[in-house]
Amino acid sequence: MDEFERHGIGVVSGRDACARALRSLELTSDPGGGSPSLLLRDGEEHTRVRSVLREIIAGLEPFPDTLRTSIEALVAGLGTSFDLVRDFARPVAGLVTSAVLGLPLDDVFLDHLEATTANLDVFGGVDRAGQASAFRLAVQLSRTPAGPGGLTALREAHAAGRLDEDELTFTPVVLAHAAYENSLNFLACAGLELAGSGPRSVRELVTAICPARYVLRFGPDGPVAISLADGLPFGLGRHACPGSGVALAEGEIALGALAAHLGSGCEVRDVRWKTHPVFHGLVSARVVVSVQAS
Ligand code: HEM
Repeated sequence: MDEFERHGIGVVSGRDACARALRSLELTSDPGGGSPSLLLRDGEEHTRVRSVLREIIAGLEPFPDTLRTSIEALVAGLGTSFDLVRDFARPVAGLVTSAVLGLPLDDVFLDHLEATTANLDVFGGVDRAGQASAFRLAVQLSRTPAGPGGLTALREAHAAGRLDEDELTFTPVVLAHAAYENSLNFLACAGLELAGSGPRSVRELVTAICPARYVLRFGPDGPVAISLADGLPFGLGRHACPGSGVALAEGEIALGALAAHLGSGCEVRDVRWKTHPVFHGLVSARVVVSVQAS
């Protein structure tokens, strides 16, 4: 919170005040500057791009069986010593993001996707590395041949006049980032909870962990950070997460498989946290599964 105040950003907290702020027409997501990202727009342009993304995400509802099988196989192969971020959360979130776009994504792609986080700079600074990563991914995706899935659907929406040229260039990265970053952070933190205290429902976990701690809005009195930590993990209002159904299904499958893999117990070592003021997550945490004496 101090971090926000230092940068002249007001903070809204408490569930009712946050719900009102998220629904307010006085507060916009658009900081000005004409970003092609739907996260940084409001009004007709936002509604138009969001409707295209909603259709793409609906392609994963219900959650595809092949994707479920791939996630379960990945978790079953974790072995007795693994890292919750590198070996569990990252490849699971990568598989789902890959299914959203409709193309395979390698480690270099995921590295750049993680680096773009800083590009959503809440303090309006210029993060050149983050911007370079986002730009690189946009160029790569614009040149990638794609089969059925989100990238092809975005190209079709552009051909049908539903997206302009800039939107076609950046929306694949925005979608990939939205599908990946919060899920990565959520799955790793939820895995840590499961390893420590045993089974809990996915909805309970996502509310308690709240991987996106704040969203930023701009009002007549300047920027405000609205807290999501009081029971609003997927936000609310015009920008509420359109992928929450997919995220919950992904969590059910991956965390269910992880709980089964951890069996009767494990030990967690070397837990390292990210320090980002908005995105709450782990850098790494090593899990050692107890081997039952027979
Ligand atoms: C646990 C996982 C997730 C959490 C906690 C989460 C949370 C959020 C939140 C809080 C927002 C609102 C941002 C704002 O109001 O400015 C958001 C937006 C968004 N999310 Fe998620 N999300 C998750 C997973 C996903 C997944 C898996 C997808 C895609 C399949 C997705 C797609 C999107 C998109 C496209 C937006 C932008 C919506 C807009 O600006 O209108 N999210 N998410």
